[in-house]
Amino acid sequence: MTLPRLFTPTSLGSLELANRIVMAPLTRNRARAEDDAPYEIHARYYAQRASAGLIVTEGSQITPEAKGYAWTPGIHSEAQIEGWKAVTDAVHARGGKIVIQLWHVGRISHTSLLPNGQAPVAPTAITAESRTYDGNGFVPVSQPRALETSEIPRLIEDYRQATRNARAAGFDGVEIHAANGYLIDQFLKDGANQRTDAYGGSVENRVRLLDEVVAAVSETWEPGRVGVRLSPFSNANGITDSDPVATFTAAVDKLNAYGLAFLHLVEGQTGGPREWPEGGLEALRARFNGSYIANNGYDRQAAIDAVETGKADLVAFGKAFIANPDLVERLRQDTPLNTPDSDTFYGGTEKGYTDYPTLEETASAA
Ligand SMILES: Cc1cc2nc3c(=O)[nH]c(=O)nc-3n(C[C@H](O)[C@H](O)[C@H](O)COP(=O)(O)O)c2cc1C
Repeated sequence: MTLPRLFTPTSLGSLELANRIVMAPLTRNRARAEDDAPYEIHARYYAQRASAGLIVTEGSQITPEAKGYAWTPGIHSEAQIEGWKAVTDAVHARGGKIVIQLWHVGRISHTSLLPNGQAPVAPTAITAESRTYDGNGFVPVSQPRALETSEIPRLIEDYRQATRNARAAGFDGVEIHAANGYLIDQFLKDGANQRTDAYGGSVENRVRLLDEVVAAVSETWEPGRVGVRLSPFSNANGITDSDPVATFTAAVDKLNAYGLAFLHLVEGQTGGPREWPEGGLEALRARFNGSYIANNGYDRQAAIDAVETGKADLVAFGKAFIANPDLVERLRQDTPLNTPDSDTFYGGTEKGYTDYPTLEETASAA
C-alpha cells in the first residue's frame, strides 16, 4: 500500500517539511503572568508535537497594545524572545519546524488587559459583539477607539519589529494572523471598517493594511518564510462582511504578488460549519498562486482526500493536536484519538496541556 501524500515530505516556501500535517494556531493562555513570556511548559508542549510537518504557534501579541486575553504570550520583549528561543530549540531538537503567529487583536480586548487601561484600537470605534477572557472570566469586549491614519506607519513598524524578534527567537518563519475577527480582519470586513481614509470604504482600501503588513514582514525577513491566515467566511468575534467573495478575491490578488510560503484558510465558520457561498472558497483557493493550507473540521480521511485530490497542499488540525501530541503517528496508523477536554483549553498549567498520552504511553500504562 502506498503512503497517502498527506504523510509525505514537501517544501513550503523556504522550508522543508517532513509531512503535510500542520498544527493549527491554538491559544492556550498559559504564558507567565508577570511578563507574558512562554517558559518551560511551552517548550515541553510544542516539543511533544514536533512530529507535525509544521507547527503554527498560538497567536502571540506583537506589542502590549495588541493583547486581547489574559496570559497570551507576546513577541515584543527580551524575556519573551528568550522564552520562545527555548521553544524553538526544543522543537528543532526533535526535527520539527515552527512558525509564530503574529497577532494584533484590535477591538477584541478589554481595558483591563491594556497598558494604562487604554481603549483597544480598531479601524472604527464600533464595539464588537464578542467577549474576551480577562483572567477571572469571560467579559464583554471594551469600546475601541479608531486608529488615526497617522498611526498606521507605527503599526506597520510593530509588525516589522515582531518579525525581527521572531527571527531572533529562532523561528522558521511567521504566520500573519489576518483571520477570526482580529485587527487585520477588522480592516478587511466592512461590518467593522467604516473608515473614510485610504484604509476604508472600497475593497481596494480595505485590503491596504493587509497588503502593507505583508510587504513589511516579507521585506524584513523573506517571503518564503511568511504565511498568511485568513477566514473569509467566518463571523468569529462578531465580524461581518457584505461581500466576502469580492473582498477576499482582492486580498488574494494582493498576496499573489509576494511569493509567500503559504496561504492558510479557515474554511467556513471557525470551529463551526464548513459553509460558504457556493464555489466561493474553491475560487479563492484556485486564485492563490502558492501553497495552500486548509483548516477547519478535518478528520483523517478528509485530510487524506484533500491532499490526494489537490484541493489542499497541507491540512491543519486544531483540537486534535491539543489532545494528541503524536497526532501524525496516530493518523498514519489510523488509530483512535484522545478526546480534547475543553475545560482545560484556556488557562492553567500542565493539566490538559502536556499530559495527553501518546500511543506508546497508553500502551505501556495498560
Ligand atoms: C482552544 C483554541 C484556541 C485557538 N486559538 C487560535 C489562535 O490563536 N489563532 C488562530 O488563528 N486560530 C485559533 N483557533 C482556531 C483553530 O486554529 C482552528 O481554526 C479551529 O480549531 C478549527 O480547526 P479544527 O476543526 O481542526 O479544530 C483556536 C481554536 C481553539 C479550539
